[in-house]
Amino acid sequence: MRDTEITAEDLQPVAGNGLLHRRLFLAQGAGLLGAGLMTASVASAVSSADFPDSMRLPGPGASPYGERSRFESGVVRLARPDTGAVPASTGAQSPLDRLEGTITPNSLHFERHHTGVPDIDPGQHRLLIHGLVRRPLEFSLDALARYPLVSRVHFVECSGNSGSLNGPKPLQATAGQLHGLLSCSEWTGVRLSTLLDEAGVDPRAKWIYAEGADSSGMSRSIPLAKAMDDALICLYQNGEKIRPENGYPLRLLAPGWSGNLNVKWLRRIKLVEGPVMTRDETSKYTILLPTGKAWQFVFPLEVKSIITRPSPGLNMKGPGFYEISGMAWSGNGKIAKVEISADGGKSWAPAALQEPVLSKAITRFRAPWNWDGGPAVLQSRATDDTGMVQPTRAALIAERGARGQYHVNCIQSWAINDKGEAANVFA
Ligand code: MTE
Repeated sequence: MRDTEITAEDLQPVAGNGLLHRRLFLAQGAGLLGAGLMTASVASAVSSADFPDSMRLPGPGASPYGERSRFESGVVRLARPDTGAVPASTGAQSPLDRLEGTITPNSLHFERHHTGVPDIDPGQHRLLIHGLVRRPLEFSLDALARYPLVSRVHFVECSGNSGSLNGPKPLQATAGQLHGLLSCSEWTGVRLSTLLDEAGVDPRAKWIYAEGADSSGMSRSIPLAKAMDDALICLYQNGEKIRPENGYPLRLLAPGWSGNLNVKWLRRIKLVEGPVMTRDETSKYTILLPTGKAWQFVFPLEVKSIITRPSPGLNMKGPGFYEISGMAWSGNGKIAKVEISADGGKSWAPAALQEPVLSKAITRFRAPWNWDGGPAVLQSRATDDTGMVQPTRAALIAERGARGQYHVNCIQSWAINDKGEAANVFA
């Protein structure tokens, strides 16, 4: 027997409330069709074999810069309320529940800026590397583009993402509104280590200070070890030049680390002996503990996952077979495992992980579910290749208290009612 063949056993639930074996997906859908699960409940019978209107006349020709279908114009970034503290301290989130796969289209990448998006002429822009180096250097964009480039797929997640899960009651909102300060792209740029090697790092230097060219002068201190490990000076995002809102003409990428460290519109890197204690690492982006003390300089984003389908606003249409689809990621490495529960965490079934599973990138997971039409509570729980497991909300609050809003990586629960509607609940 081929190992992709479906047995009767595979059609038996493997966890409470109708979760089926992930082998149904590993067998490339053949099992689902063979078992009649899909055709019985999803597709409709043939009604007409007439030629559609689109076949009567030729359509418009090529366009200089592509647009999506007019029928998809409702899929947009989700505006965040202006915090009011500083003019243009705002942003917009990715509509995660309306997207699939692992890469975020550039137009829908979340954006977070402290004083708006600067308009920077690449011909005038320079990157300065100075401080504890043998030779201070200044790079134009043309000069940077002559260094060896590398492309890597990585997520960017704001450390404040999902912060409402630490609030007093579950906010009724979509997956994008709750968790959309998260996006994933293929980034292309120059290794920061290449430029630092060329400048010649003084052995006294242990940190870098990175500064943006926006009017907030957003800046962060980052350990030199990270800068020399996998940090990139990015010029391209998903094959085209970085968008203005994401840092044009160049940004720093510190893969897997708090979004705030990925300094956009980067203009200066100074090599220093210790952290500089900038505004964004003292007044903000620290993890408040129940004792009132705070952890400072917590960099990697911990293992996390969410189910994007079904989720609030994406209602199910009657009992039958459904694919549960979601995203998992970890700032510490690769996703090793994602488990799904349909009974609020009482029992779990392993999800199928879609290849490629990349380090510090979004992994798409899928699980087959035969919904019986009754109430259910869906959850996903991710484990990364360092062995870290996504905590329950109760466990995270027990460790850190319920006041902090940064690095909230606890399990998200969606309650499904008998109409097939999903709601945010604290389970
Ligand atoms: N860099 C500068 N110069 N100015 C900023 O306001 N915002 C930071 C970071 N880099 C910011 C910045 C924050 S808080 C986050 S979460 C990420 O950029 C967001 O990156 P994105 O807008 O490309 O999604």
